[in-house]
Amino acid sequence: MKTLQRSHTCGELTAQHIGQQVVLNGWVGPRRDLGGLIFIDLRDRYGVTQIVFTETDATIHERAEQLRAEYVIGIKGTVIARGEENINPKLVTGEVEIEVSDLVIYSEALTPPFEIKDGITTNEEVRLKHRYLDLRRPEVQHKLFMRSKAYQIIRSFYHEQQFVEVETPVLMKSTPEGARDYLVPSRVNPGKFFALPQSPQTYKQLLMTSGFDRYFQITKCFRDEDLRADRQPEFTQIDVEMSFVDEDHIYGIHEALMSRIFKETIGVDLATPFPRMSYDQAMSTYGSDKPDLRFGCEFVDFSEIVAKAEFKVFSDTVSKGGGVVGFTIPGQGEMGRGAIDRWTERAKKETGAGGLIYIKMQEDGPLCSVAKFLTDTIIDEMVAASKAKKGDLVFLLAGPKPQVLEQLGQLRLMIGEEFGFIDEHAFKPLWVTDFPLLEWDAESQRYHAMHHPFTSPREEDTELMDTEPGAVRARAYDLVLNGSEIGGGSIRIHHPKMQQRMFDLLGIGEEEAEEKFGFLLQAFRYGAPPHGGIALGLDRLIMILTKAKSLRDVIAFPKNQRAQSMMDDAPAAVELKQLNELHIKLKRIQD
Ligand code: AMO
Repeated sequence: MKTLQRSHTCGELTAQHIGQQVVLNGWVGPRRDLGGLIFIDLRDRYGVTQIVFTETDATIHERAEQLRAEYVIGIKGTVIARGEENINPKLVTGEVEIEVSDLVIYSEALTPPFEIKDGITTNEEVRLKHRYLDLRRPEVQHKLFMRSKAYQIIRSFYHEQQFVEVETPVLMKSTPEGARDYLVPSRVNPGKFFALPQSPQTYKQLLMTSGFDRYFQITKCFRDEDLRADRQPEFTQIDVEMSFVDEDHIYGIHEALMSRIFKETIGVDLATPFPRMSYDQAMSTYGSDKPDLRFGCEFVDFSEIVAKAEFKVFSDTVSKGGGVVGFTIPGQGEMGRGAIDRWTERAKKETGAGGLIYIKMQEDGPLCSVAKFLTDTIIDEMVAASKAKKGDLVFLLAGPKPQVLEQLGQLRLMIGEEFGFIDEHAFKPLWVTDFPLLEWDAESQRYHAMHHPFTSPREEDTELMDTEPGAVRARAYDLVLNGSEIGGGSIRIHHPKMQQRMFDLLGIGEEEAEEKFGFLLQAFRYGAPPHGGIALGLDRLIMILTKAKSLRDVIAFPKNQRAQSMMDDAPAAVELKQLNELHIKLKRIQD
């Protein structure tokens, strides 16, 4: 069977081509039979062109009658104008159609389990099972085109800035980044395992000690962690490391990169420099280390005002070091009893809050849910602090500090969504800075690195490492966009002694450190430049650019929530022979 060499794609023929002989290849879309004429929408990745089979050539017409959805065909024909009433202004090719003079059927097709078009409501499991068909749909393809364009912009950007693209190993020794490793057994080293990289962190630092100065890589990372809509077990990072830099260099370069990506993919100008906010400020104002700045509802701390109240819930909370914190919801001052009860329920159920207190700013003055325990002066002071106006509503929570802020942070997002406060067209990036170096883990009764163990403490805080480790701030930063953490990085430790001090705080003794990271410590001993870097989550970035609902939508062949590939059934059992070669014996797995 001959393959017709296409002269055009299905997305480019317009009135200016009328009269031309053309050849198109593509998939058969919707078809209409009208009194001897057969109309078919022929589709390829570039678009759709209407083709028409007349009865002039009986053989071709007969073959056209056999065409079904998703057959792959090639046609020759003449571009003709559509009748006035058939012009489709929504299509680039909507003014023309092709009168077919030759038809080749390359492949027949089974009836697909869902229609190949945009806006279908087919359940995601079915679409993932047949991902190759889902990927035929224009809205799905569009996301991958955007992704491909982003790769191109990213690569040229870094190359222009003298970055060197280096591939680092996929079979490596595990780097602790907080998640579990995917392990790969080594046949020739019985009982030994590689880990797939959670990130190329140690390699990029080694490249700095080797003098590469500016490194980048668009690379796959693997983390065996609990999945959510914005997490995949295998995802892509734009990974970067630079020598002789401080935070400002890294921010500057990445603001320029982000501006370029947004401009060249979706035509949006991002205002630079991006705002910066310390972790403490983000937590106390938004109850989140990745605040969504597309709407207000900033927190107000009422603790000082209510500390003097007779009301035990307030005064006890404050005297125990907790807080009474709230935010104003514009225009909701008339919220009814039922609606307030529903918010109370949601706050309890979805955020774990103990109870919701409110002040309704009614026509005839403020109405506070716990008014009988408070004096008018206290209520007036609270209203003044909240800056609430007539017609507004204030929600407050009382409780131990970090929890109450986090609960209020979740409530703020729920409110923002529910009342349409979030401007869906806005892009609000920011740097969140000065993260704590360490995080106390109550379960294991020890500190964990909040970012990773290679992050440098702030110089002025190093003395606290011995006395008050929990108070040490790190030279770590996140890039946050519309409430999503799209990147994270830090200035690193580059002195072996400081690195060991950090390991000590994490309960990693000298022997263990030498065994796990001896290569890195040794590399530092041969002269390491001060360095730092960042990794951006490419999938999350594309998700925001394409307004996708899930990371799965921007990955060609994603895993589902159970870390399985629906299409090829990975992960799957392997043959006993393979396990024997790897010296692996499976325990019986209970179903
Ligand atoms: P971090 O762990 O913060 O830093 O990861 C960097 C960015 O990668 C993205 N990301 C993910 N995206 C999808 N699915 C996941 N499971 C997932 N996990 C992380 C996020 C995140 O901000 N080595 C350091 C970087 C550095 O210090 O330079 C690191 O990996 O967008």
